[in-house]
Amino acid sequence: LKRNSFPADFVFGTASSAYQYEGAASEDGKGPSIWDTFTRRYPGAIKDNSSGKIADDSYHRYKEDVALMKGLGFDAYRFSISWPRILPFGHVSGGINQKGIDYYNNLINELLSNGIKPFVTLFHWDVPQALEDEYDSFLSPKIVKDFRDYAELCFSKFGDRVKHWITLNEPLSYAGTVYVVGRCSKSFSTNCSGGDSSTDPYTVGHYQLLAHAAAVEVYRKKFQKSQKGQIGITLNAGWFVPFTESSNDHKAASRAIAFQYDWFMEPLKSGSYPIDMVKLVGKRLPTFSEKEASLVEGSFDFIGVNYYTANYAKDVPCKNNSFSYLTDSCVNVSSCRNGVPIGNKSGSSWLYVYPRGIQDLLLYTKYKFDDPVIYITENGVSELNTGSVSLEDNLRVDYYREHLSYLENAMAIGVNVKGFFAWSLLDNFEWNYGYTVRFGLIFIDYKDGLKRHPKKSANWFKDFLAPGNHTA
Ligand code: GCO
Repeated sequence: LKRNSFPADFVFGTASSAYQYEGAASEDGKGPSIWDTFTRRYPGAIKDNSSGKIADDSYHRYKEDVALMKGLGFDAYRFSISWPRILPFGHVSGGINQKGIDYYNNLINELLSNGIKPFVTLFHWDVPQALEDEYDSFLSPKIVKDFRDYAELCFSKFGDRVKHWITLNEPLSYAGTVYVVGRCSKSFSTNCSGGDSSTDPYTVGHYQLLAHAAAVEVYRKKFQKSQKGQIGITLNAGWFVPFTESSNDHKAASRAIAFQYDWFMEPLKSGSYPIDMVKLVGKRLPTFSEKEASLVEGSFDFIGVNYYTANYAKDVPCKNNSFSYLTDSCVNVSSCRNGVPIGNKSGSSWLYVYPRGIQDLLLYTKYKFDDPVIYITENGVSELNTGSVSLEDNLRVDYYREHLSYLENAMAIGVNVKGFFAWSLLDNFEWNYGYTVRFGLIFIDYKDGLKRHPKKSANWFKDFLAPGNHTA
C-alpha cells in the first residue's frame, strides 16, 4: 500500500462534527441544539450520562488541532458547522450570531494557511432546539426553507474559501434513530414515544432530501459559478452479505441495501424512491411532486460515502404496517452467523471489521448509480475507553491498512473516488455511547485536561502520507 498509488490530487483527511468536537455548547451566543437538550433532559440516554458540553474543546483549541493534522501530513479536514452556533434561533430572521461566524472564519483561515482544504458539512444532526420546538424540525416541510436559508448564509459567508460542501450527514441515521432525539428533547421525560414510528422515519428522510435539494439549488443558482466549488451529500450504508447462498437471502441483502442506501441514492439519481421500498412501504412512503423530483434528481456533484462495517442479511417474513424501516424491509440484519461474527470485534457493538465491504459498496455505487464522483467521508474503528492512557491501537492500524487497500482495488477497477477521510482525528463524544468508546488517531486524556497524545495509528498515517515512495 503506497500513497503514490493514489492519484496526485487525491485528498487524505480526517472527519469530525461540531457537537462531537467543539464543546463551548452555550458560549459566545450559541443557541441550544436538540443534542444539548437531549443529553441534559434525559439521563440514561447517553451511556455514561455525558454530553458534548465540553467534548474535545475544539472551539478553543482549533489551532492545536490544525497543527496536529498538518504534522501528520493530512491535506483536508471535514468538519460541520453548528447551525445554532450561527443562527441561535434557527431562522435567519432570528438574528445571526457574529461570534459563531467568526469562529468558522478563524477555523477555515487556519486550515488554509496550513495548506489543509476545508470540507464543510452543513448539518451533522444538531438541529436548533428552537426549530424542534416550533415545528418538529425535520418532521415538517417548514424545515426546507429554513435549511435553505441557513445554507445560503453559509455559502455567502464562507464560500469564497470553502470549495467542498456537504449538505447532510447520514440522512439514514437521522431518519432512522436520531429524529427520536428531537422528540425527547422536548418532553422532559424518559418517555419520548408519541410519534408514529411506522411513518416518521420516511417523513424525516423525505424532508431531508428536499432540504438538501433546496440548498443545492441555491448554491447552483447563486454561488457555484463565481465560487467554483462542489456540493454533495454524505450517505452511509454499510454492506450486506447474504446469510446463506439461497436466492431469498440474496434478495434480502439487496433489499437491505435498498432500504438503507438506495433510499437516498435512487432519488438523487432518478427523482424517485427505490421499487423495493415503494412496494413494501406503500402509502406510508411520501411521494415527490414533479417539481420536487426534478430538484432532487441529480442534486449533487459528488457523493460522500461513510463506510464502517458489514452485516449479514437474512430473508424473514414481512410484517404489515410494521415498526420501522428495518422491519419493513423484511430482512433480519445481524453481525453474526451461527455465533461467528462477520469480522473482528471493535469497541462498538455494531462495528465488526469487514474491509472488503468498502470495495463491494463502491462497485455497487458505480454500476447502479451511473458512476458518480465519490469521497469516502468517513471510515474508522473504535476501541473501548478503558480509563487509562493507551496508544497501541493495532486494531486501527490494521483496519486502515486493509480498508485503504480495498479502496485501491476499487479504484483500479475504475470507481471514481477523489478522497478519503478517517473518522476521526481525535477521540470524541460518540452520541449515545458518550465517551465510552474511542475513534481517534489521537488519544484524548479526558482525565488530564484533554491532552492530545498520538496513537500508533497516527504515526502509521504519518508514514503513509509522508512525501516519497513510502510503503505502510
Ligand atoms: C456517524 C457520524 C459520526 C459517528 C461515527 C462513528 O456516522 O454516526 O457521522 O458522527 O461518530 O460514524 O460512529
